[in-house]
Parts: sequence; structure tokens; C-alpha cells
Amino acid sequence: MNVSARWNPNLEALPTSGIRRMFNLAATLEDVVHLSIGQPDFPTPAHIIKAHIKALREGKTRYTMDAGLPELLTALTHYYRGRCKQNLIEENFLETTGAGEAIFLAVTSLAAPGREVIVIEPSFVLFQPLVELAGAQVHRIITTAEQGYQVDPNEVIDAITPRTCAIILNSPGNPTGTVYPPATLQAICHEAANRGVTIISDEVYDRIVFDELPSPSVLDFDIDLDHVIVASSFSKTYSIPGLRVGWLISSSRNVKTLRRYHTYTTTVGNTPGQWAAIEALKGDQTCVHEMVGEYRKRRNRIVELLKACCHLQSYQPQGAFYIMPSLPKGTDGSEFVLRMLHEIRVCATPGDTFGKSCRNAFRLSYATSLERIENAFERMIPWLEKQSF
Ligand SMILES: Cc1ncc(COP(=O)(O)O)c(C=O)c1O
Repeated sequence: MNVSARWNPNLEALPTSGIRRMFNLAATLEDVVHLSIGQPDFPTPAHIIKAHIKALREGKTRYTMDAGLPELLTALTHYYRGRCKQNLIEENFLETTGAGEAIFLAVTSLAAPGREVIVIEPSFVLFQPLVELAGAQVHRIITTAEQGYQVDPNEVIDAITPRTCAIILNSPGNPTGTVYPPATLQAICHEAANRGVTIISDEVYDRIVFDELPSPSVLDFDIDLDHVIVASSFSKTYSIPGLRVGWLISSSRNVKTLRRYHTYTTTVGNTPGQWAAIEALKGDQTCVHEMVGEYRKRRNRIVELLKACCHLQSYQPQGAFYIMPSLPKGTDGSEFVLRMLHEIRVCATPGDTFGKSCRNAFRLSYATSLERIENAFERMIPWLEKQSF
């Protein structure tokens, strides 16, 4: 008899990621141009690889302390002291297996049946499923391409109820590249702190910001760290997503609790990866400026190319390496990207991957060369001219 496992029903409800769906399909086709990849296309800088290999050679392959390698926690403390207004100490940090684990710990330690979490759509793929996995409800705030996916802070504040346990923010955002102005973050953070609601702020793209904008962080404001959990990593900044080095920041009291939880999930992070991360932080930062400069050029070009496309509503994103144009209202974005893949071999990510309200949109990633971007639009522009919606 073939009886399937009795999975937790919340697990059964997890969606298959639209990114994976497209990627698997594209793998069966030839001559596909990918504008769908969510990781840097640049090689990892040589000095970081060297430090990683050195750590392996020196036998730094044992478990670390459960909060992370002390040397990394100290390096992070210095780094953030130079970047934000909070006077952070080592006990405010917990090293995690990428920002992914930090988000998992933050969301599932707060969300519970009977509670609500406010999420701004379009939202990064982990947020809503994790809230639901923990048995809580998602309260969605909708933003659109017409508004450049900016959120009205009052809409978020008005959505807070006695059942709200957390608000998830992500700026610069995936999938939109939108950067919230400091005033937006500040208004939401202050109201949340006054009402006992925790802000979970995903800041993995905090160094990939254009147009001379400051890189706003919720740590810039004078708020009580008991009401904030920041999740971040080096995956994007230093092009090391596979090393799985991330962290969370909160009050030392919260970190103590989350550290206990962490020992029941991944136990500790990747030890040689943490040594490589220390080198990334302390070493030459030219690599970051070069990568960000390249993303800026690509952003400028993709914004220009999207203006030449019929039917699409676009905007100017100011960070990360994504843009999310929308199609005319009511259009099925999934069907659109499938046709685009089959007919012109350009692979994008369907909008509904990032929330129900984004069905008529699609995400393009410019973590790929300018040449490939040009090539994709040479196919897309004439093809779009022939479409009717
Ligand atoms: C917004 C956002 N948060 C978190 C992550 C996960 O990052 P990490 O590789 O550090 O787990 C990603 C990765 O794509 C992301 O786009």
C-alpha cells in the first residue's frame, strides 16, 4: 500500500515557486535569454575566495559558537556603527544561514494562529508562505507599478489591529527594486513601536542603491530594538549567495530568544563562509562599487528599453537588480510570460509569484550582462507590438 506522509496541512499549502516553475521549463528549451535570475552574475571577488580557501586549509571547519563566529560579530558591530544611528554591540547580532534563515526565524517566531502579519505586495517569495506556515494570516497592502510600488505609510498604519504581531518591510525590494524614502520607514517604525508591533526589515539589498540615494535602514531611527528585527546577508553585496552567510539584528533580549530557536534549526552557520565574510567586510570595497556601478548602467538601459515597449507600465527602480512592469489590468501575467518564453525565448518571472495582486505584472532581473538585456529586448519590442490585450 502506498500511503503518503501525513504532512502538516500548512506545509501542503505552500505554493511551488513561480521562479522554479519558469526555470525548469526554460531548461527544456534552447536559446533562452534569462531575465529571471535572482542572484548576482558577477564572479565572487578573488580576495574573498582566497580567505574562504585559507579557512578550509587551516581546518576552520568546526562548529562555531551558536551566535556566530565572534570575530564576525565584532566586524559586523563595527560595520553597522559606521552605517546607522544605533549603538550596536555584538549581543545584538545572530549569524544565520543566509538572510533566508534570519527571515524564517523572525517570521515564524512571531506569527501564530490568531495573529496577523502585514505584508506589502509585491512581496519577496518567502514572506507570505512563512506567515501562513506558522498559522497566522497575511494582511496584504497593495502597491502598483503606476506608483513605482511606493507604499503609503498611513495605509500600513491603518491596517494595524490588536491581532497584528509584525510588519514586514523590504527596501530596496525584491521583486520591484523600489527604495522607500526615510520618512516612509520612519512613520511605520514609530507607529509599530508605539503599538507593540515588531518590524521585520529585510535589508539584503541595502548596498545596491542608485542615484546617490542614502541607503535607508530601520536602524537609522531612534527606535527601541525590542520592536525591530533586521535580516541581512552578504549574498548580494559581495556576490556570495552560495556561502550562506547572513545575520539578524535586534535587542540583545530578542537575540537571546532567537538564538535558542536557531540552535533547533541550522544549529550554527557555515564556518569557512564566515571567515570569508570577515574578509569581505574588512577588505577592499572597490568590488562593491564596481558591481553597483554596473547594475546602475543596466537599470538605466532597461528603463529606457521598457519605454519602447507597447502595453507596459513601467517606472524607475532605485535599488536591487529587478524591475516589475505591469500589463493592462486583467491580463494574466502567467499566461503572458509562458507565451513570451515559448514564442521568443525570453524568460521572466510571473507576477503572481509575488502575491495575488500582481497577476498582471512580471519581474525582470538585470543580474545579467547588458548584451543579454539588449538581446532580450530586440525580441520583446517587436513581439509586444503584435500583441493585443
Ligand atoms: C529580498 C530577499 N531577501 C532575502 C533573500 C535571501 O538571501 P540569502 O541568500 O542571504 O538567504 C533574497 C534572495 O534572493 C531576497 O531577494
